Amino acid sequence: MSKINRRNFILTAAAAAATAKPAPVLAQAPAAAPAAPQGPFKQPPLPFHESQLAPVIGARTVTLHYGKHHAGYYTNLNTLVQNTPYASMSLEQIIVAAKNDSDRRVFNNAGQAWNHELYWTMLKPGGAKTPGGKLAEMINASFGSLDEMKKQMVTSSGTVFGSGWTWLVQDGNKLAILNTAGGDGPLTSGKTALLGIDVWEHAYYLDYENRRTDHVKAVLDNIINWDVVGSRLKAA
Ligand SMILES: [Fe+2]
Repeated sequence: MSKINRRNFILTAAAAAATAKPAPVLAQAPAAAPAAPQGPFKQPPLPFHESQLAPVIGARTVTLHYGKHHAGYYTNLNTLVQNTPYASMSLEQIIVAAKNDSDRRVFNNAGQAWNHELYWTMLKPGGAKTPGGKLAEMINASFGSLDEMKKQMVTSSGTVFGSGWTWLVQDGNKLAILNTAGGDGPLTSGKTALLGIDVWEHAYYLDYENRRTDHVKAVLDNIINWDVVGSRLKAA
């Protein structure tokens, strides 16, 4: 076959292939997409618009943090607890039980769902700059001043190795700063979580890159819902 004839043959064959009817396919039920588990745990709505924390936390960070990271913990947890005793427990009960059971996947996903539920409610666009009432009294008694408390919290956040949280907690009649790793939180040490700052990189990297403590300081100075923080105090 000459070069030209070979080329014509190839083009003709290609055209025939393009117009050929597809081979019949046996009728079959379409493959069902795996259904999202309709488990007992539902992510609460974000208490503000995703853009309202800017410029302290940008809209893109909030969108991904709430819509992907936090949402993912519920998806994982609902899958993990299916047909287990965990399915009828509260998040708090699961955290304690899974810790005792050394079930790290359930513990981490329940812990992160719970930690973030607190986190979003503790933030407020244009939040008051200072706490009041009993909370202010306890901060002054425990740290000397609000500025000193914030300073210690910022410094402590810088010492979290890898992913974790920095908390203001109530321990009896005193307040203290506590770091936790991964999905852990104050519940497992019997302390009351008053304020939690997420220091996983997903919480700040788009806005602050590696400057974690700048992020924590900006959050503490500008967008804390001190009314919610104060409402979490327990009678000592
Ligand atoms: Fe987070």
